[in-house]
Amino acid sequence: IPADLRVHLGETVAAVPPRLFGGFVEHMGRCVYQGIYEPGHPSADTEGFRQDVLELVRELGVTVARYPGGNFVSGYRWEDGVGPREQRPVRLDAAWHSTETNQVGLHEFAGWAQRAGVEVMQAVNLGTRGILEAGDLLEYSNHPGGTALSERRRANGADEPFGITLWCLGNEMDGPWQIGHKSADEYGRLAAETARYMRFLDHRVELVVAGSSNMEMPTFGEWERTVLRHTAELADHISVHAYYEESDGDVASFLASGAGLDRYLDTVAGIIDEVLAELGLDRKIGISVDEWNVWYQRDWNENHKDAVLSGDWPQAPRLIEDEYNVTDAVVVGSLLISLLRHSDRVSMANLAQLVNVIAPIRCEPDAAAWRQTTFFPFALTSARGRGAVLGSDLTVGSAPTARYGDVELVDAVSTVADDGSVSVFVVNRAVTDEAALSIEFTGGELVLADAQTLTAPTGGDRFTTNTRNEQPVSPVALSGIRTETGEGATRLAVTLPPVSW
Ligand code: AHR
Repeated sequence: IPADLRVHLGETVAAVPPRLFGGFVEHMGRCVYQGIYEPGHPSADTEGFRQDVLELVRELGVTVARYPGGNFVSGYRWEDGVGPREQRPVRLDAAWHSTETNQVGLHEFAGWAQRAGVEVMQAVNLGTRGILEAGDLLEYSNHPGGTALSERRRANGADEPFGITLWCLGNEMDGPWQIGHKSADEYGRLAAETARYMRFLDHRVELVVAGSSNMEMPTFGEWERTVLRHTAELADHISVHAYYEESDGDVASFLASGAGLDRYLDTVAGIIDEVLAELGLDRKIGISVDEWNVWYQRDWNENHKDAVLSGDWPQAPRLIEDEYNVTDAVVVGSLLISLLRHSDRVSMANLAQLVNVIAPIRCEPDAAAWRQTTFFPFALTSARGRGAVLGSDLTVGSAPTARYGDVELVDAVSTVADDGSVSVFVVNRAVTDEAALSIEFTGGELVLADAQTLTAPTGGDRFTTNTRNEQPVSPVALSGIRTETGEGATRLAVTLPPVSW
């Protein structure tokens, strides 16, 4: 497949928001308990947090972590998770039919986040709770002292406020599966009044209102319009959730997931502009893609969900611990290309989730934490894809897909970091064909520092996974690159393996 990419070195199109490299820690399955937190594990610190997991979180390059849900938050009382651990109540978590011990809560998570070097993105419960409880949590977290709530925080060991800026107003409130599910009008009003109260309490907060749970929701579009009409003066971001999977053997559509995300983001951006214009508002509302990933959701829905939701109430059950293969990693890489390309509209994005639950990091009580295949595109993009997105043009052929129509077989985005280093992220979506990619950098001469690819390993194929015992999938050097520099431009010729990022 011939592909021609021209990258314009002097043309920056948008700054890359550092929050694009977010993660998500939900009280679900083994993400918190037996995930980031496992007292008694040989690598656990004095607080009970696993250091092997923490090291991989740092290596992953996560900048912000959404917490504590997800569906979990819609039945959660934040007060249960503060104060002496031995006095914390054990509760039923109806979202995931689990028993919640509350041994990890706000203080523990804030401490962990600080050690991991990530910002906390705190979600409030707008399913079963409301304005007052959200305000209480904010006051408890951020007010310096001298009030009942802030003194309670101080008595619980945090003399200084947590200073949490970023707040999600509920989670997936459009979904009938959500505890306390609401109509767009009901949610829009509640989100607006919660936002107003939270701003009265702390004018520094940045607020994310809940958009649709996915683009296939019957209310998609109208939900965003209605919610924004209520909240456009108060919200800073509106959420997008997007999960992709290979189903019915349709690998072409799966590999084209990035094109699906492009359309989703463009549609939501259009609705934001439409409502701001309608209301005559001159302000910016970003898109917070605060749940995205590959998730074999059909398997969960068809084979596990009913049993889990009608079964016992276990502690930290094994839920949706998807084992990712090479193709999944290539798709994650391509979704990151889409996110980077939308840096002008996407203000943050959170890979869902961080550990064990549809996660790039896996661990077991009796094994050291390991990197799933999807770990690598995220880590490399977070490490290299900083600074600004560069203008570029790509010429390449398309192939038909059942889900997205004709989709280009190669996709790419380029960035320039503050130190002037340039990165090009490319995906070859073809299942059997190599891509012959030529890249021309115009407006400057460059030296090739490094080239890597993630693709089927020697002796493996696109279905190869990393397991606790063997991790054959990781980026390898991309060899055979021809470079040519002169007359103010640099040209590269590179062969991309099929199904590669
Ligand atoms: O990430 C798993 C679940 O997916 C979250 O709890 C929910 O918000 C979404 O439906």
